[in-house]
Amino acid sequence: MTFHIGAKPGEIAETVLLPGDPYRARWAAEKFLKDPKLVNEVRGMLGFTGTYKGNRVTIQGSGMGMPSLSIYVNELIKDYDAKTLIRIGSCGAMQESIKVRDVIIAMTTTTVATPSSTIFRELNFSPSADYSLLRAAADAASKVGVGVHVGGIYSSDTFYDERPDLNKEMTRHGILGVEMEAAELYTLAARYGVRALAVMTVSDHLITGDALPADQRETSFGDMIEIALEAAFS
Ligand code: HPA
Repeated sequence: MTFHIGAKPGEIAETVLLPGDPYRARWAAEKFLKDPKLVNEVRGMLGFTGTYKGNRVTIQGSGMGMPSLSIYVNELIKDYDAKTLIRIGSCGAMQESIKVRDVIIAMTTTTVATPSSTIFRELNFSPSADYSLLRAAADAASKVGVGVHVGGIYSSDTFYDERPDLNKEMTRHGILGVEMEAAELYTLAARYGVRALAVMTVSDHLITGDALPADQRETSFGDMIEIALEAAFS
């Protein structure tokens, strides 16, 4: 047990998928895992452990934003020995060529700051994905048959943005989409020598204003979860 995770030692798998939404953790566990067992419900941040094609995997909610994700990822790595951590979430598209429902795989991510920024002082650390996971996810995405984009994303601290000029600069510099967690995940993975990746379904479009219709959400999130699971165990 840790401050924020009630699982007993051994109840968390080495491979952990991290949706922001704890209800999505439950939905994904029930849909994709064999024999999912609830291992955490502290603060309602549900976590489940089961198997996927015979491999043990935990699906643990991380909450929204980097400070929340940082708590769970620190404890998963340091107290539960997690070795492969894959964020599965949603993001807003920042390029015209990307459509809602498409999947974005983050090679690297730009931020104003992460909870780890105090360590780096004047350094601009460049958080990047684990290459073996990135390559495996891109391969899996081509088999799932969904539109896939691999490149840089923007990890923002705000959903309700008072600085639209930052989004414009991101678009101008080829950034694919915006979300709120990946930079801290990649930074912690680098610090502790574990593998990390962020795979996101495009739920809304910052340029066109399009949004994923409610009835398509489940299938789209399902595609992303399949990509993440296939990448984890390839
Ligand atoms: N902004 C930030 N985070 C997000 C968005 C967005 O538009 N969509 C999904 N996560």
